[in-house]
Amino acid sequence: MLKHTQNPLREGLRLQRTPEPCAMVIFGASGDLTKRKLVPALYNLDLERLLPNSISIVGMARRPIPTGEFQNQMRDGINAFSRKRPVDPAVWANFGRNIEYFQGNFDDPAAYKRLGELLARLDAERGTAGNRLFYLATAPDYFPVILKQLGAAKLNHSLSGGWVRAVIEKPFGHDLISARELNRTVHAVFDEDQIYRIDHYLGKETVQNILVFRFANGIFEPLWNRNFVDHVQITVAESVGVEGRGGYYETAGVIRDMLQNHMLQLVSLVAMEPPATMDADAVRDEKVKVLGAIRSIRPDDVTAMTVRGQYGIGTLNGKFVPAYRNEKNVAKDSTTETYAAVKLFIDNWRWAGVPFYLRSGKRLPKRLTEIAIQFRQAPLSLFGSALEGMDPNLLVLRMQPDESISIKFSSKSPGQAINIRPVKMEFDYGTAFGMEPPEAYERLLLDGMLGDATLFTRADEVETAWSRIMPIMEGWKASPSKDFPNYEAGTWGPAATDNLMARDGRSWRRL
Ligand code: BG6
Repeated sequence: MLKHTQNPLREGLRLQRTPEPCAMVIFGASGDLTKRKLVPALYNLDLERLLPNSISIVGMARRPIPTGEFQNQMRDGINAFSRKRPVDPAVWANFGRNIEYFQGNFDDPAAYKRLGELLARLDAERGTAGNRLFYLATAPDYFPVILKQLGAAKLNHSLSGGWVRAVIEKPFGHDLISARELNRTVHAVFDEDQIYRIDHYLGKETVQNILVFRFANGIFEPLWNRNFVDHVQITVAESVGVEGRGGYYETAGVIRDMLQNHMLQLVSLVAMEPPATMDADAVRDEKVKVLGAIRSIRPDDVTAMTVRGQYGIGTLNGKFVPAYRNEKNVAKDSTTETYAAVKLFIDNWRWAGVPFYLRSGKRLPKRLTEIAIQFRQAPLSLFGSALEGMDPNLLVLRMQPDESISIKFSSKSPGQAINIRPVKMEFDYGTAFGMEPPEAYERLLLDGMLGDATLFTRADEVETAWSRIMPIMEGWKASPSKDFPNYEAGTWGPAATDNLMARDGRSWRRL
């Protein structure tokens, strides 16, 4: 692999942005997210000298844990899950000292009073300057409780002129009604510009690159519409099962877990109009518009426009894996969907009539996320039968793993006759930039500290996304599937998935 300094493509890439000093309070700090994602992300930011000069990380949770022990747990987390590991003792010596544990019950007003005192002390002792980033990493049931208590303790605004922001983890609501209710609770305490709703897909380098690819190049955008695009396929395939989160997954299913958030975010970035500027609100305005233009599936059409599935036993990478119904905390007769394929239309001038096919599932043969833009066939064959059976042009944005962008086109194969073959031009992130991309949470935490909300979802955005998904959820709930499990773990989902596209004379990409 190339060294960074040898790679001209990397030069000038990093616009150093260092946030102001601040205290970050993580609610639910004894949970998995903190040690797997949040603290490792902060550590990697520190390694790259992107953290503020003064930072305090306060982990809050209910159980009593001595600060020293909490620090050790966080160091273990970095050693196990960090992008760069093991921990560098010299960096840890400084970084670890910034971590404190704070025991408190989320519904106890006295705890928030003590928290306020602790934050004031950190301002005085550590120079955190009255700036606070509250990070709600608890189970979603606690979000309203914590928000209300922060408001009651007057921690929602800084008394010393600093900024106060709240990052809210997903899931944001369980359906449209609960999302609206949660937004009301949020807005009773915070202004919208203080709120950072997480969808970690937006923090992925390749997802951010969708906008750069579309709007920093002149040649693609003219083709990016119904005149040239035949259809769009978005695949978010996972080989993992529910990984011990059966209790949560039973209440979510693939539709809430992946479709309402991550997949609709991908759709909105691919389909949105160019914003006037890259300001958070200008970008989000365009995303909301395109989400709002997604045609609501009518109850009678749910069966024709969607396919649902649940995995049964099977083998993956040569290993036996259990059925979803045999996962821990999953009902033996569960009707929760672990797979969905959906056909959507976006009823606006740019996309009218262009189907967007989305599929996502657990226990599929591999982990792979991609967006494939299938262009229309060339209008005329000038080469006799040579073009027959040739695929039309295809642009594939591979989000993960092996991040890349490729274009497939037809080429004459060498020889005296005109023989046409499909060939591929490929840009590979790893090779071009000689580095692995940062983790999504690194970017998102940094942006939260910097006050850049572009990669976070706004209140109206999250509600519009729910509103588009509700008809599917309601349709599925009204007639629970009787044939579950209907796909074997380690396969590409239920057989009916192919019909969804075959009916339109199209087929899914083989991945
Ligand atoms: C999470 C879901 O939001 O995204 C998980 O709750 C899923 O079920 C995960 O596995 C996928 O994220 P990634 O970054 O691994 O594609």
